[in-house]
Amino acid sequence: MTDLTSLRLSYTRAELRRADLNPDPLLQFRAWLEEALAADLREPYALSLATADAAGRPSVRTVLLRGAEEDGLTFYTNYDSRKGHDLAANPQAEVLFHWAELERQVRAYGRVERVLEEDSTAYFHARPYQSQLAAHASDPQSAPIENREALEAKFAELQARYPQGTPVPKPGYWGGYRVVVAEWEFWQGRRNRMHDRFRYTRAGEGWRVERLMP
Ligand SMILES: Cc1cc2nc3c(=O)[nH]c(=O)nc-3n(C[C@H](O)[C@H](O)[C@H](O)COP(=O)(O)O)c2cc1C
Repeated sequence: MTDLTSLRLSYTRAELRRADLNPDPLLQFRAWLEEALAADLREPYALSLATADAAGRPSVRTVLLRGAEEDGLTFYTNYDSRKGHDLAANPQAEVLFHWAELERQVRAYGRVERVLEEDSTAYFHARPYQSQLAAHASDPQSAPIENREALEAKFAELQARYPQGTPVPKPGYWGGYRVVVAEWEFWQGRRNRMHDRFRYTRAGEGWRVERLMP
């Protein structure tokens, strides 16, 4: 295997100063996400979602961000999945965006709530037909399945039950979660591993901003 200890990059693209920061971390996040989109990165709205179960065992996976509003960061999934079980037992999460080409990372921590059922239903029906069927086929998400053929057979059965053009009902176990962010961190890589990091934590109606050691 390649000697990983010989691989290193120096981060020289940009710097992040306190004066550059928007006092509202959501607006700061949106500005960075827009820059990542404008830079044509592949799926810069993909995030790592870290959860933990009741015993504290962590797990992490990628999901797609579907909204970044005052009330939180939204993603959609299966409530019966492993992450769904973690969040039922321990409704808090940390999410991570890494935009390598921009030498940036953003972390956001908070409690997790379910999205209103009607909002999940509206989004479900806005997804492509095949994705709607896959939400039915992949249930319960995260459970073992014997082989690929069994999964394909489920998909084919669903195609026959709900031909394209007919409405596919949203499964009750499928919907959105919102991370209500209590803490944000914006990280900009710098030369010599002397990176810029700023943490926002809630302070009354606003946010306290602190520079962190890299
Ligand atoms: C780029 C990418 C995007 C993904 N987006 C989602 C998503 O939005 N929702 C989802 O449930 N799973 C998504 N997945 C699959 C999850 O990473 C994960 O495999 C699945 O949700 C089961 O996770 P769990 O067993 O920890 O609950 C995505 C995976 C990748 C690599």
